Amino acid sequence: MDFKIALLAGDGIGPEVTEEACKVLLATGERFGHRFLFTSGLVGAAAIDSTGSPLPDETLELCRKADAVLFGAIGHPKYDNDPAARVRPEQGLLAMRRELGLYANVRPVKTFPALIDMSPLKREIALNTDIIMVRELTGGIYFGRPQGRSEDGNTAYDTCVYSRYEIERVVRLACDYAMQRSKKVTVIDKANILATSRLWRETARDIAREYRDITMDFMFVDNAAMQLIRYPSSFDVIVTENMFGDILSDEASVIAGSMGMMPSASIGTSTSVFEPIHGSYPQAAGKNIANPAGTILSAAMMLDLAFNLKQEAEAITEAVGRSVEAGFVTVDLDPVHPKSTLEAGYWISDYIRRSI
Ligand code: IPM
Ligand code: MN
Repeated sequence: MDFKIALLAGDGIGPEVTEEACKVLLATGERFGHRFLFTSGLVGAAAIDSTGSPLPDETLELCRKADAVLFGAIGHPKYDNDPAARVRPEQGLLAMRRELGLYANVRPVKTFPALIDMSPLKREIALNTDIIMVRELTGGIYFGRPQGRSEDGNTAYDTCVYSRYEIERVVRLACDYAMQRSKKVTVIDKANILATSRLWRETARDIAREYRDITMDFMFVDNAAMQLIRYPSSFDVIVTENMFGDILSDEASVIAGSMGMMPSASIGTSTSVFEPIHGSYPQAAGKNIANPAGTILSAAMMLDLAFNLKQEAEAITEAVGRSVEAGFVTVDLDPVHPKSTLEAGYWISDYIRRSI
């Protein structure tokens, strides 16, 4: 079968890691008899430099026409150090979430046994962590209006808004995940304080009734932040609002050992976006040292979730696992005998090809 993929490499190490993911997809296509057709689009600082916009209309159009989007990273130090910059790369990301209706960000947090000692947590605590973190991505305080400053500039405000519909669809997605796993969903909120959180609880309870086998529990976000590092293996599927999810998913991402290994999917109302969770890591850009595994595993999520190619996705995940076991990894995982981005990517593509 043919699949159209919009390739948004973005900034920093984005081009290098997406390049390796494309090669892995091509190898997977060869093995299983699919054609993956890539079309590149500009996004982030790279897009601002050449078009003035972090998400040009052309790129958005490309995404809309594609079967899925593979995304690298965006961000550039020249904007981080300039709080007054009117146009910023991150606006491209928020615009893409809004325009493509990317209502849920899904981040699996799973330890690779060979990498367990890279975790900042004690081995016995990190062991057996296997969480699916579902973050609402197009609502809450990120998008709520009004947002701004008072006339005298001395007061600022953001608005956190949620509708029942926005909560329902993301909680349903979390329950669907849980049905394929241990059937446990933890809803994280701040219902002791926030009206939006109380609507989350009420709505989540209603959705749980649709899934008779699901056990749903509720946790306040401050407690959840603590439990995540104290007892991560007690969680299965987590679902939470946009900003809590932003914070907790970064916290969860380090439990498994290396951020460079972590994939994610942003589920859209029609097209979905797949991207590693790491940023543009400008210090490593162009040096052929970045870990391509997070993007390669994101490509595996794309095959699974967007194209329903389960076996193909599994082949990629297995190849990445084998490369880690073989120690054929980049400097973030092996500072003594590191492989380059190209070498690590090649090993994975080659493993997939050799398994024919
Ligand atoms: C993320 C990032 C973004 C967010 C930024 C870059 C806008 O931190 O994807 O988690 O806050 O959502
Ligand atoms: Mn974040």
